[in-house]
Amino acid sequence: MKKIIFISLSGLLCLAAMKSNYSYYDTESPPSRSENENISSENFDVMMKVITHERCMNCHPSDDRPRQGDESSVHHFDIQRGADGHGMPALKCSTCHQSENNDLSGVPGAPHWHLAPKSMGWQGLNRVEIADAMLDKTKNGGRSLEEIEEHLTEDALVLWAFEPGVNNEGKPRKAPPVSKEAFIAAVKNWIAEGAKIPAK
Ligand code: HEC
Ligand code: HEC
Repeated sequence: MKKIIFISLSGLLCLAAMKSNYSYYDTESPPSRSENENISSENFDVMMKVITHERCMNCHPSDDRPRQGDESSVHHFDIQRGADGHGMPALKCSTCHQSENNDLSGVPGAPHWHLAPKSMGWQGLNRVEIADAMLDKTKNGGRSLEEIEEHLTEDALVLWAFEPGVNNEGKPRKAPPVSKEAFIAAVKNWIAEGAKIPAK
């Protein structure tokens, strides 16, 4: 604790980033699962290796507690999501998490660091269920497919996972098993090919 530098950040950036309304599934019905049985799932496989990695999942819990570390243990200091994912009034994420990694204290950081809303809680779901939830506008913050592509390939929290810094013992955190470039290419190709989710 004593090593932590207390700097407050405005978490409001994320609100500005919330946009919606471009419609994909409103005009085209989603591809049916049975039609997808024989598709090549190569891009999907690469993409899901990243999405199911603990660097992402630690911020996408199904309850109110962020996880930490490669074993995804409950976050120290009894941290709770709070009303808006930025923590409780007395202990905001931004009290400790800055806009970049602090490799002296081992606190990870990226702009607008906070917990994904509960509707985006993927913990306990399999990869097909995660993909379904990710495309479901009632759960994904009203995002169109185009906006999901943008989020997956440009959002600061997503990109952080590929350069996750060191933990509080000074050991490098594991990055996902796929490079950032390979992930971005897989996302773009998967979406360009109709965002088909394999049967399992
Ligand atoms: C009192 C300081 C403090 C507060 C407040 C805090 N964190 Fe952390 N957080 C840490 C420290 C220190 C670590 C590093 C632990 C480690 O990896 O050794 C950490 C690690 C994490 C990780 C783990 C990253 C990974 O993949 O291993 C996540 C996720 C996280 N915090 C999310 C949050 C969220 C979301 C909030 C607000 C709701 C929050 N934290 C509030 C200090 C804090
Ligand atoms: C520090 C916490 C944090 C980390 C790490 C994180 N996310 Fe998120 N994620 C969020 C928050 C917060 C939102 C909601 C943002 C919003 O709606 O404006 C979100 C939203 C999303 C969304 C859009 C919603 C949806 O269901 O389609 C996707 C996709 C996503 N994250 C994927 C990832 C992937 C992939 C990774 C890892 C490479 C990752 N996230 C890592 C916090 C995080």
